[in-house]
Amino acid sequence: MAFKSTYLGTIQDVSGTSLSVALDNTAPSGLTYVDGEGYRIGQIGSFVKIPIGYIDLFGIVTQVGASAVPDNQILSQPYGYRWIKVQLIGEGQRNGSFQRGISQYPTISDEVHLVSEADLKNIYGQPDKPYFVKVGHIAGAESIPALIDINKLITRHSAIVGTTGSGKSTTVASILNAISDPLRYPSARVIVFDLHGEYGHALKDRANIFKVNADKTEGSIEKDLFVPFWALSFEELCNISFGKFNNEKDENIILERISLAKRASLKKYAKDGVNEDTLNVDSPIPFSLNKLWYELYHECFATYYSKNKGQAFQNLAFENDEEGKEFKGDLINAVPPIFKKVKNDAGDDEKINYVPGGLNVGQQVLSLGSKLRIPRFDFLFKPGKWTPKEDGATDFDLDSLIKDWIGSDKPITIMDLSGVPNSILNTIIGVLLRIIYDGLFWARNLSQGGRNRPLLLLMEEAHNYLNNEGSALNIVQKIVKEGRKYGIGAMIVSQRPSEVNSTILSQCGTFFALRLANATDRGHITSAVTDNLEGLTSMLPILRTGEAIILGEAVKLPMRALIDAPPKDRRPDSHDPIIYDEHGEEDSMHPGGWGSRMEENPNYKEFVETWRAQSPFIKLTNKSKTMNRQSVSSSNIASIGYDANSQILEVEFLNGGVYQYFDAPQHIYEGLMSAGSHGEYLAQNIKGAYRYSKV
Ligand SMILES: Nc1ncnc2c1ncn2[C@@H]1O[C@H](COP(=O)(O)OP(=O)(O)O)[C@@H](O)[C@H]1O
Ligand SMILES: [Mg+2]
Repeated sequence: MAFKSTYLGTIQDVSGTSLSVALDNTAPSGLTYVDGEGYRIGQIGSFVKIPIGYIDLFGIVTQVGASAVPDNQILSQPYGYRWIKVQLIGEGQRNGSFQRGISQYPTISDEVHLVSEADLKNIYGQPDKPYFVKVGHIAGAESIPALIDINKLITRHSAIVGTTGSGKSTTVASILNAISDPLRYPSARVIVFDLHGEYGHALKDRANIFKVNADKTEGSIEKDLFVPFWALSFEELCNISFGKFNNEKDENIILERISLAKRASLKKYAKDGVNEDTLNVDSPIPFSLNKLWYELYHECFATYYSKNKGQAFQNLAFENDEEGKEFKGDLINAVPPIFKKVKNDAGDDEKINYVPGGLNVGQQVLSLGSKLRIPRFDFLFKPGKWTPKEDGATDFDLDSLIKDWIGSDKPITIMDLSGVPNSILNTIIGVLLRIIYDGLFWARNLSQGGRNRPLLLLMEEAHNYLNNEGSALNIVQKIVKEGRKYGIGAMIVSQRPSEVNSTILSQCGTFFALRLANATDRGHITSAVTDNLEGLTSMLPILRTGEAIILGEAVKLPMRALIDAPPKDRRPDSHDPIIYDEHGEEDSMHPGGWGSRMEENPNYKEFVETWRAQSPFIKLTNKSKTMNRQSVSSSNIASIGYDANSQILEVEFLNGGVYQYFDAPQHIYEGLMSAGSHGEYLAQNIKGAYRYSKV
């Protein structure tokens, strides 16, 4: 018969979509050849086909050997090693078209055949359809591309999981590279939540990068990430600024004050879409939080000369400074006033008391004040052109902010969150997602809304903010449940799928499962995927780096694929510190590590400076963030720059890392430039001699 060389055995047991197959005695064991290609028989994860009538059923081998013997045959076949268990997954017509799900069941004695590379090509390959993108090739079959259907990938959400170092970020970069191709998808729209600043370098020519504390020197494409506090909901704003309230009454006082401030601002500066009747405390209307803070501060802490005529607030008892001026503080910079102590002495005519009707939210007001002053919160409370004046006026409204984020000519927007304080990371991601979701939801009928120009949201390191609490969780649950209707797709990336909320994981239609050793994590994947394919997920611990099992809606059949890594300069910059660089000192693209010498007088003054300022930049680097550099040819260095005034030498390594060496004399720079090997000169004369900082 025609299939002779592919014949494996016959079906002995059918239970649901799971089959037990007895391998035929004449069927080859080990390696066999079909059309000149070698195949291993009955390997877990390999495919089989069952021709019945005009169609072929396809299945995946999930178990091999004695344990694959059906229960009712165990007694008669104690050494049942020539058995395999197969999970049915789909059916193909003889004309080559293939679909998931099966319309007919096989029965006892149906023949089971090996699937050849030609069959696989029929199933997997349709590269001509423009909505398929190639992310790699099928493991063991170089010529068959691993194709992903982006329609399903985006609308049905997806997850990329795997142990650290298994290749998740590289897989992301590969997918992003494919879907941001301007020739194929000129209107692609993706937002990346990048917690470690990994993607900026890899995607720089296709992305806008928004970062807290952006590098704004010439040549840098980073832009400041601003999240105006007045776009936050009342709850989000309280989480970040006031903290918890002692009771509901106190909370309502603040709620009332914010509502009033927004109302006053709206009265003066009308905004389309909302009026004084429809306004509520969550409406994104600018108001001055500094002014509110300044007023609340008075109401909590002010004292006054209680014997003077007139109202308490006209007789405030400020302390005086050395020049005799009253310490009234400063609203713009959130410097609080200083009040005299309460005084009620018998012999003294001057009486000082707290202002009547004082508020009981002192602790919350102090907390807000400190946030208003700390520089790392500036992206929220002093958001550039979106900072409200005292009366609520702003230079720009939200439209320009949203346009920057989702409406630019570049397909990808990177939200580099590496500068966001950890304590508020969750809330900030929640806020960003909510603003974007709300915007696309309400604008769903417009050309720039989500239905007409869908958006993919990529969330790296999701276990950090999508576990079981926080504001990011709520909005992402909403996105995975309803985003499909409004054109918002989620892609969740995590090394700990067991720590990602299970509702979110179970809504992901497509899984890219890379190497995953932890059994609990694997269990979560097995239970989240719809196909009953435990056999496949049991392979996860032994996958190679960059090798993925892709399951779900975006692929025609589950596939084991090798992901094509993007070219070296387009790979994500994984920020693991180097303990010992295997490349050796001269070729190393890292200035430090345990293997290289340390400078002689390490400067712990600067160390403490960064801590006090709560900013990774010291005064020295702040002054002269990146300079003009000259390209050099070297195995590890890309370019070199020097500023004679500040004696700062700047080195860019080929992996994109830029470092400044301090107090480096001119002759060292000249020596480095003219050296035969720049890497060798750097290792011998600069490393270990000058202190440095990454910029
Ligand atoms: N498909 C691949 N081909 C070649 N190298 C890869 C591939 N995927 C990952 N790598 C390499 O493995 C390392 C870790 O990859 P990365 O994507 O950062 O892993 P993860 O994000 O899972 O921690 C990197 O050095 C990367 O270059
Ligand atoms: Mg990663």
